[in-house]
Amino acid sequence: MKKAWGGRFTKKTASLVETFTESISFDRRLYAYDIKGSIAHASMLAQCNLISSKECKAIIKGLKGIQKEIETGTFPFKSEHEDIHMNIESALVDRIGDVAKKLHTARSRNDQIALDLRLWMRDQIQEIIVAIVSLQSELVTQAKASGKHILPGFTHLQHAQPIMVGHYFLAYVEMFERDRTRLIDCRKRVNVSPLGACALAGTTLHIKPEITAKLLGFASTFENSIDAVSDRDFSLEFASVLSIISVHLSRFCEEWIIWSSQGFDFLDIDDSYCTGSSIMPQKKNPDVLEIMRGKCGRVYGNLFSLLTIMKGLPLSYNRDMQEDKEAIFDSSDTIKECLVILKELIKKTTLKFDNMEKSCEKGFLDATGIADYLVTKGVPFRQSHEIVGKIVKKCNANGIGLQNVSLKDFKEFSPLIDKDLYKTIGVANYIKQYKSPGSTAPASVRKKIAAWERRLQKQTLKQEKKFV
Ligand code: ARG
Repeated sequence: MKKAWGGRFTKKTASLVETFTESISFDRRLYAYDIKGSIAHASMLAQCNLISSKECKAIIKGLKGIQKEIETGTFPFKSEHEDIHMNIESALVDRIGDVAKKLHTARSRNDQIALDLRLWMRDQIQEIIVAIVSLQSELVTQAKASGKHILPGFTHLQHAQPIMVGHYFLAYVEMFERDRTRLIDCRKRVNVSPLGACALAGTTLHIKPEITAKLLGFASTFENSIDAVSDRDFSLEFASVLSIISVHLSRFCEEWIIWSSQGFDFLDIDDSYCTGSSIMPQKKNPDVLEIMRGKCGRVYGNLFSLLTIMKGLPLSYNRDMQEDKEAIFDSSDTIKECLVILKELIKKTTLKFDNMEKSCEKGFLDATGIADYLVTKGVPFRQSHEIVGKIVKKCNANGIGLQNVSLKDFKEFSPLIDKDLYKTIGVANYIKQYKSPGSTAPASVRKKIAAWERRLQKQTLKQEKKFV
């Protein structure tokens, strides 16, 4: 088969080389972006009088026909044509003849692939943002539904202080909000058109890159043609934002894996979202959460692949960069799938509030409350900490909770303790005493839930109108 670049060659490409260098097996998924870019490029060429408007129309019609063929599954992708760009171009020549050969005027596959990737990524960012907002909405729904329920908050996985279940869910809403805004920020740097940079140096022909940029909805065009074809920072940034999302997902998964264990028994994941053991008939395992936790491996791996591919590459385009695609495709697919499935799993999980509350009886969760109480009586915090430590030690030895200590016994530790202390001990009392902004105080959590409901509703409306 004749190669588009075959003019200076005297020998046929070895079939091993064809197989080794092809990317059509994976970059075919960029077809719609490649065609969209080519249509914009042809229009620009016509506006700059580099092709006639008749030729432009023929090219556009041909490209649309190819798109249909690909979408109906009848397009014959060929590895001899290396990549998506040349597969489409040669099919265009077959369809409309020599006029198709004008399409690649003032363009190189180097700016073409950079364009396709940016267009693809812009859409992926949009899809991931929609999935994040949908997961956030489910977390807020859970927060609201948890009402007044309390669970032990942990540090070092040890019982620490009581927290509202709603406060716990909102912590993840905040995390995913940072992820969403990181994606929006990343999109700013993705949304720059590289088309018109050509191979690396620009062209001697009179083209107007700002026309293609505008037609394709980019916010701006490249400033430097060398940079435009060499830059993959946007892929690195995208892959790192997705890695951070996978960190957040894995933390949630880990928590729920622990909470679903018999030792905790804080929740019950629906049978339809668990799997069993092939040998132990009694088992119900949280495999979905474990796999999702494990997905970090490939998402971080993809980021490291990209960083390694780009490291030390001299300017400008190098073929190494062809290796970037599978990594970002995989990270994007993985994260989208995880966000969707996690939302469904959460919906199908029953939280065992009674067990959470029973667990609050252990671990002296209200101890810090007594320390704070003494501070209000003028005791320096380090001293009150010491006093309460001693009280806890005694309770531990007697196997009782702080709320069971008599006023007389309390007074032995500090004469400043009075009966009003009992209003602040016991987790249900203690949690109501929280006052600081952003704390787990029930009234503050309720307000935050309402604020998040409004914010997410607005966000969803914006998405429906297609401006995220
Ligand atoms: N398939 C290549 C890639 O993914 C784009 C083509 C650039 N190839 C070239 N020989 N200049 O990066």
